[in-house]
Amino acid sequence: MIFVANYKMNGDKKFYQKVNRVFNKLESEDTVVLCPPFVYMSSFKLRNENVFLGSQDVSGEINKTSTGQISAKMLQELNVTYSIIGHSERREIGETDFMIASKVHMAQEFGLVPIVCVGERNRAESLDILIKQVSIALSKSQKNNVIFAYEPVWAIGTGEIPTVDQINSAISVIKETALKCGFDVQVLYGGSVNLSNHNEIRKSSADGFLMGGVSLKLDDFIKIVKGE
Ligand code: PGA
Repeated sequence: MIFVANYKMNGDKKFYQKVNRVFNKLESEDTVVLCPPFVYMSSFKLRNENVFLGSQDVSGEINKTSTGQISAKMLQELNVTYSIIGHSERREIGETDFMIASKVHMAQEFGLVPIVCVGERNRAESLDILIKQVSIALSKSQKNNVIFAYEPVWAIGTGEIPTVDQINSAISVIKETALKCGFDVQVLYGGSVNLSNHNEIRKSSADGFLMGGVSLKLDDFIKIVKGE
C-alpha cells in the first residue's frame, strides 16, 4: 500500500527534523510519501528505501516568469519523487482541471509521480464529477505512472467518512475512466483517516491513504502504516 502524509501548512523546523529521524527508522514494506511544505524539503535526508519525499503542489509551467511558483525541475533536484496535484484546498483558490492537467504533464517530464486528488464537493453531488476530473487530469499525460486520491471534499478534516461501498463505487469510476483514457492507475483514499477508522477503510479497494490531520501525530500515522 501507499501511505501519503500531507502536512499542509503545519509544523516547523524541529518537527520535520523529528519526522526525518522517525521515518529513517521505520520498518515497513509499504511505501510512505512525506509531503512537507516546500521550505523544509531540502533539510530532509531520507535513508529508508521505502520512504520518499513528495511535494504538496508543483507548477504546470517551465521557463516562465512566475513569482512564487516551484517548478518540477527544482523538485527533481531535491530528490522529490511524488507530487500531490489538485488538492481540493488548491482547487478552492482557483486551480482548474486544465491547470491540473499541465501540472501532471510537467511533473512527469521531470520524473515525479503525480498523486492527483479528485472528489465530489458535497454528499449530494453525483460521482460523475470524477469522470470529468480524471479525464481532464490525464489529457496531457504521456506516462502511465499517475496515482489518484479519491478525496470527497466533505470528508476532509471533518471526521466524516464515506462507507466502504461508497469508496469502492468512487474508485471504480476513477479506474474505469482512467482505463478508457489508456491508463492503469492506483487509487488512494483520503479524508479524515484516523486511528479509529483506518481498519474499516482498509476493507475498501483503496491502494493506500492520503492523510492530513493524522500525519501530524507521528505515532498514530505509523500505527496506520503498520495496520495496527
Ligand atoms: P484529513 O486531510 O486527513 O485531515 O481529512 C486529508 C487531505 O486533506 O488530504
